[in-house]
Amino acid sequence: MTRTIPKAELHCHLEGTAPPALVRRLADRNGITLPEGLFADEDNFAWTDFPDFLRAYDAASMCLRKAEDYRDITYEYLAACAREGAIYIEMFTSPDHAAEVGMSYLDHLEGTVAGIEDAERDFGIVGRIIVTCVRHLGPDRGLVVARDMIAEPHPYVVGFGMGGDETAFHLRDFLPVFRLAADAGLGCTVHAGEVCGPKSIYAALDALPVTRLGHGVRAIEDAKLVERIVRDGIVLELCPHSNVATGVYEDMASHPFPALAAAGCKVTLNSDDPPYFATSIGREYATAAEDFGLDDEALRAVTRTALEAAFVDASTRRRLLDRLDGGAPNLMKERQQQL
Ligand code: ADE
Ligand code: ZN
Repeated sequence: MTRTIPKAELHCHLEGTAPPALVRRLADRNGITLPEGLFADEDNFAWTDFPDFLRAYDAASMCLRKAEDYRDITYEYLAACAREGAIYIEMFTSPDHAAEVGMSYLDHLEGTVAGIEDAERDFGIVGRIIVTCVRHLGPDRGLVVARDMIAEPHPYVVGFGMGGDETAFHLRDFLPVFRLAADAGLGCTVHAGEVCGPKSIYAALDALPVTRLGHGVRAIEDAKLVERIVRDGIVLELCPHSNVATGVYEDMASHPFPALAAAGCKVTLNSDDPPYFATSIGREYATAAEDFGLDDEALRAVTRTALEAAFVDASTRRRLLDRLDGGAPNLMKERQQQL
């Protein structure tokens, strides 16, 4: 039973956490007609391959129109994670998606912060924000996102990252963007080695000031690269169900989580875009137990790796590590007794 293991997640896309029911609710509330064919059925989005997933994700994100929508999606995601025993979640937010529907950086930030505060009050779960730019929109848009972020510093914005189409542009084109973020004291991570192979990971490590990799899973194809990742203590934000759903690996038995861990890589478990990939942080931990053979001690070690690699401030990290060591998955029970 992995339910009581305290969990931490470093890699999920806030816009990609909303299940179809929430997307429909927000669309109704905002008077938006969702595109035809967005859903396969009541509970599932319709998409075929990775580019088509990005299209569906973009389309569903358009239901977010107001700060209140960001508050609700954040609160509901954190509540769901707390129910599964998560104590810490870092969420990627995308100001480009907000801008696409006319929302300012501050509106999107204020809503997300409100959701984080309400969820910590009600469930004891700690949430933080990693602002992301979108690779296929190019470095000029990335610079706008980074500048907006730096102009409005917030203690909950702890990192900077980039998702999107890994085949677009070269990572070195984004160095000025990441330099701005790193020089402002933010931790940096980038998607690499998900769709593309080891070359994309070399490009990330050579070009950008990153300490973590979004996925990075295809490093397993290059022993020298794995050695470098181990030597430099680069943390892998692994997302097994996402990888199987998008066809990077055929099934869990082929997923290199165990091989990367055995090689000495710092590995973490993450849900990426949970409703698209039929997963959750709880399911990732359960799968790690069932398919990868991790016992409770190994699962706790994964949480420890995530908390140690989190971009959170030192005193919050200490508090979270104490909770991991104390064994209380979250404060939910205490809170429920108080309510
Ligand atoms: N944006 C949302 N999910 C993503 C993923 N898994 N990879 C790259 N960009 C994304
Ligand atoms: Zn991702």
